[in-house]
Amino acid sequence: MRGIYVHVPYCRRVCPYCDFYRKRSGAVDEEYVLALIREIGYEADGGAVNTVFFGGGTPSLLKHDQITRIMKALHRAYRVVPLEITLEANPEDVVPENLKFWRSIGINRISIGIQTFSEKGLKALGRWHTPEEGMRAILNALSYDFITSADLIFAYPGQALKDFENDLLTLVKLGVHHVSAYALEIHERTLFGYHLRKGKIKEREDLREFYVLREEVLTSSGYRRYELSNFALPGYESRHNRIYWDRGWYKGFGPSASSFVPEERLRYTNLPSLSRYIREFPPPREYDPLDDERERMEKVFLGLRTGNLLLEWYVREYGEERLEEVREFLDVRDGRIGIKVEYMHVFDAVVRRMI
Ligand SMILES: C[S@@+](CC[C@H](N)C(=O)[O-])C[C@H]1O[C@@H](n2cnc3c(N)ncnc32)[C@H](O)[C@@H]1O
Ligand code: SF4
Repeated sequence: MRGIYVHVPYCRRVCPYCDFYRKRSGAVDEEYVLALIREIGYEADGGAVNTVFFGGGTPSLLKHDQITRIMKALHRAYRVVPLEITLEANPEDVVPENLKFWRSIGINRISIGIQTFSEKGLKALGRWHTPEEGMRAILNALSYDFITSADLIFAYPGQALKDFENDLLTLVKLGVHHVSAYALEIHERTLFGYHLRKGKIKEREDLREFYVLREEVLTSSGYRRYELSNFALPGYESRHNRIYWDRGWYKGFGPSASSFVPEERLRYTNLPSLSRYIREFPPPREYDPLDDERERMEKVFLGLRTGNLLLEWYVREYGEERLEEVREFLDVRDGRIGIKVEYMHVFDAVVRRMI
């Protein structure tokens, strides 16, 4: 399986928690589209590609003509087998006119940034859509036959467990195929990071309860967790994200996008600068060849996220004693290791002790 990621670094407004590379603008610059098409043509190998993911930023901001040209460039450069073509969308863009068009160019999966259905919560997160718009977006996507995924953020300032339960149950009731539910991460360089330093918001101490609730509600409703933050009804897992977690081949286009070439053990990332991306060719990149140690650590980190870390391999590489030290945090079954739900809130600390 090979995947392509296209980063669209534009947002109408910038959310106070978000650390993804993007600029504030209600329209996608033509110069960026031209630079993107140029990058797609560069190093094109004509080989098969099974998944495409338009991420952001806000890919749903692309004009119809812009995304058509990008898709054409992808088809010229690769043999795109249209297994899964995903577009990340903000709720206000998930309207019939766009959905009809996206379907016509081969997009078959939509990932919608819902975050919460609570009006208070949307305000706390600095979002500008309404709970009704969130619901409408999901119903629209489903009615146009898209595999529909919703993103939630939980444990944001002021959110009670009950609010989160309501968000989860609403998604279940609407019938989404896939849920990505992330604990709010507070990044230093964001407005929330500033608020944290000033003591206006606090790190939450009740995270464990949110993780446990998420697991209970979603698994009892037929969803299966196949990664730390991702749940799907049977058959609706994101194949594209699977490629990342399984350390498969993927190529990222656009500023800040990363690529991985497993045969060469090479990871590289376009620099997060739109102006340089537009001006310079080939795009400025940082190369990051992996050594044995890094590769071993990545296998632990990614394996634990998906519950697919091979027990035998881990013991061979790190020893029985190391495993015993962290055994209480781990869920070991059928020769594979994952993390127990009760310890997901300290995932990074557990990984640090394992490597
Ligand atoms: C890169 S965003 C793109 C989605 C789209 N622009 C939107 O906001 O609707 C993908 C998802 O990452 C999640 N996310 C972004 N920043 C986060 C943070 N600081 N903590 C937890 N989740 C975050 C949100 O759920 C968001 O929908
Ligand atoms: S959460 Fe989405 S809309 Fe908000 S700044 Fe990040 S990418 Fe843009």
